[in-house]
Amino acid sequence: MSSRPPSEAVAAQWDERYGDQDRVWRAEPNEILVDLLRGTEAGTAVDLGAGEGRNSIWLAEHHWQVTAVDASKVGLAKVSRYADEAGLSVTTLVQDLWEFMEVSKINDRRFDLVVLAYLQVPEADRAELLAQAAGLVAPGGHLFVIAHHMDSLGISGPPEAARLFVESDLAAVPGLTRERLELWRGPSDQAVSGTDVFLWATRV
Ligand SMILES: C[S@@+](CC[C@H](N)C(=O)[O-])C[C@H]1O[C@@H](n2cnc3c(N)ncnc32)[C@H](O)[C@@H]1O
Repeated sequence: MSSRPPSEAVAAQWDERYGDQDRVWRAEPNEILVDLLRGTEAGTAVDLGAGEGRNSIWLAEHHWQVTAVDASKVGLAKVSRYADEAGLSVTTLVQDLWEFMEVSKINDRRFDLVVLAYLQVPEADRAELLAQAAGLVAPGGHLFVIAHHMDSLGISGPPEAARLFVESDLAAVPGLTRERLELWRGPSDQAVSGTDVFLWATRV
């Protein structure tokens, strides 16, 4: 059974965290994402749970037309500020990402790139999250998911095992071709190095 908290609770929790510190996450984009996109033509992208927008900002810098979705208005206000300071354009949307995916599906809205970086989703919701996110990928487009791996317990990422992932959590991507499903060791959303698991899948 899903243990998804209501979006108001998610928003309040993350607003408080983002309001307490200038930067909760490091400013650099995810290295694997940058690497995977080498040679890919820029198009439309959605960064689901964008936080302070480090991936959104990098994508916009590299000519992607980015929509950053997050429940936290405080996090997204930072995204807008960073984008303005850099003379970039990022569309920000304060919305529950489940609702965003549902509405996008109804409106047949698709993206050339869908990013899900370090969402701490309970195990019961992971298959559904992946299926919904896969549904947002346009023909020829890609889904990138990265999460803290169980091996990071006590080293980096959230301190509870229930919020850490294993490879099988990212194995099923309906409608997409799974190209890479691997462990990666390096700095994740914060500067501390740990083990992450990432998925790169394409709608061929
Ligand atoms: C660990 S942060 C990751 C931020 C960013 N992706 C990164 O890698 O720097 C998780 C983000 O997901 C957002 N989030 C979690 N659940 C959400 C939901 N149901 N709807 C929208 N945003 C959500 C939180 O507000 C938070 O900003």
